Amino acid sequence: MIKNKIAIIGAGSVGATIAYNLSNRGLANEMVLVDVNREKAEAEVLDITHGMPLGSTANIYAAGYEACGDAEIAIITAGAKQRPDESRVQLMDRNVGIMRSMVGDLMASGFGGVILVVTNPVDVLTFVAYRESGLPAHQVIGSGTVIDSARLRTFLSRSCSINPQNVHGYVIGEHGDTSFPAWSNVTFGGVGVQEFCQDCDAGCGDDELRRQATEYVRQAAQTIIKAKGSTYYAVAQAVAIITQAVLRDERRILPITAVMSGFEDFREVAFSYPHFVGKNGIATDAGINGRLRYELTAEEQEQLRTSIRYIIGNTEQAGY
Ligand code: LAC
Repeated sequence: MIKNKIAIIGAGSVGATIAYNLSNRGLANEMVLVDVNREKAEAEVLDITHGMPLGSTANIYAAGYEACGDAEIAIITAGAKQRPDESRVQLMDRNVGIMRSMVGDLMASGFGGVILVVTNPVDVLTFVAYRESGLPAHQVIGSGTVIDSARLRTFLSRSCSINPQNVHGYVIGEHGDTSFPAWSNVTFGGVGVQEFCQDCDAGCGDDELRRQATEYVRQAAQTIIKAKGSTYYAVAQAVAIITQAVLRDERRILPITAVMSGFEDFREVAFSYPHFVGKNGIATDAGINGRLRYELTAEEQEQLRTSIRYIIGNTEQAGY
């Protein structure tokens, strides 16, 4: 039997929901939950375990970092979370130090797998995890705009009354306020937005549809945080899909956060862009060093540069 071991660091609402989602998928035969509050981690484990006679079974337990050494993937979720009206970037001061110490403890366990960062601001923190771990760039990824892309597809699916699985497209750049949908590549079953709207009677028009969708995606997390404190179901689903792509070596195209060097003339920086995801994290033998050749319009290229510059500013402010 192939050993599939997942380590989840942080047993808060995001970490616990990821553990629950992954255990329901039956992906891992071993899963360890690490949290400074061991009692909380143990309680989450118990709660998940009690459902196992009725669903998928796995060896799930709470432990310290020493239990992470032989995991294939470590999912890092711990850190301060956004308060209402706070941007993801405002978490930076609180979470950079936490990330540094978590990655230090993880690497001290002898870990050599894929690190998947979920803690916000995910772009800067993926870069911190990369630098602090000393692992190759393709092995350190972030959940990035996989969730924003799913939100985009959700909005378009609902607005246009079409199954979300037939809506394709990616939100790219920062997982934050400067992200944007690369509209030139958004399609409904392969048909572009403008063409699709021409055949539709709803009358909103493609410009208005784009405007509303972009706004929806940017505001989505805040809408949820204001009403219920935090987001966790959709992000857990996004993380589960990424984890599955790694454990099953699916080579799935996902807009994860990736550390890129030599992207245009930029310094080394982490941001979201469609990549092939497989057993080593980014499948560097596919596309351009694992990155999909994704043609953008001149305007989109400029939007992306603006987003990258913003992330670089924050990364430098964080001391990296
Ligand atoms: C969100 C968190 C993951 O967008 O940033 O829901």
